Amino acid sequence: MSRRNLKYIVGNWKMNHKLADIKEFFTTFSQSRAELHCHPWIAPQFIHIPILKELAFTLGNIQVGAQNMSHAASGAYTGEISATALSDMGIPFVIIGHSERRNQFKEDNELLSKKIKLALASDLQAIYCIGETAIEFEKGTTKEIIKEQLHQGLSGISDCHKLLIAYEPVWAIGTGKVATPKIAEDVHAFIRNELAQLFTSANEIPLLYGGSVNPENISGLLSMPNIDGGLIGGASLKAKDFLSMCHQARPFARS
Ligand code: 13P
Repeated sequence: MSRRNLKYIVGNWKMNHKLADIKEFFTTFSQSRAELHCHPWIAPQFIHIPILKELAFTLGNIQVGAQNMSHAASGAYTGEISATALSDMGIPFVIIGHSERRNQFKEDNELLSKKIKLALASDLQAIYCIGETAIEFEKGTTKEIIKEQLHQGLSGISDCHKLLIAYEPVWAIGTGKVATPKIAEDVHAFIRNELAQLFTSANEIPLLYGGSVNPENISGLLSMPNIDGGLIGGASLKAKDFLSMCHQARPFARS
C-alpha cells in the first residue's frame, strides 16, 4: 500500500500542555465515535510521551512521536535524547529541523543531516522540516533555500522509505498567515521534483504543509495533489479542532 494513500494530521504540541490539559484532550477525543481515515500523529514534550502513548493506545490509531533528538548516537551529551532511546521506547517518528530549532538552537543543514541519518538507522520515521523566512519569501528565493535545505540535509541518504518532508514557511508559523493552497502546492511540486533527483521512489514520500493550518483552511490545502497532510501547531492543541482536521482528511485516489 502506498504511504500516501492516507493523509497525515500531525500535531506538533511544542512546549505546551500540562497533564490536566492532556487528560482533557483525550476525554474529548474519546467521545468522538466516528472512525478516522487518516494518520493522526501527535508530538508532545518528551516527558509526556509515555502518558500520551497510554491514553492514545485505548483510542486506536494515534501515533505518538518526538519533536527532536540528538545529533549524536550516544555518550556524554547531558540533556540530550538519542535516536536509539526513542526507538527503544517504541516511538515511531521524530520531527527534525523545525524552524524553531534552526533559528533558536542554531541547527543547520549539516547537523540536521546527521540527525536524519541516525533516525533512519534507528528505524524511526523522520519528518524533515524545511522552509524559507519572510525575507527570503519577499526576495523570491524560496526555491533556492528549499533546494539547499533538501540537498544538504538529505545528502548521503539513499533509503527514503521512512522519510517525510514538512514544508513550513517560517512567515506562516504561528502568524495566522497561511500559504494559499496554490502557493503551497507550487512549492510541494518543486520539492517532489528535487526529491526525484535524490531517490528513485520520491513519489512515495509524504509531503506535509505546516504554518497556520486550522479547521477552516485545511481542506483546501489537503485537496492539492502534492500535499499529503499537515504539520499543525496551535490548532492541534484542542481535541475538537484536531478531530475536525482529522475528519476533513479524506483519502483520495491517486493515478
Ligand atoms: P502553527 O500551526 O501554530 O502555525 O505552527 C506550525 C508549526 O510550527 C508546526 O510544526
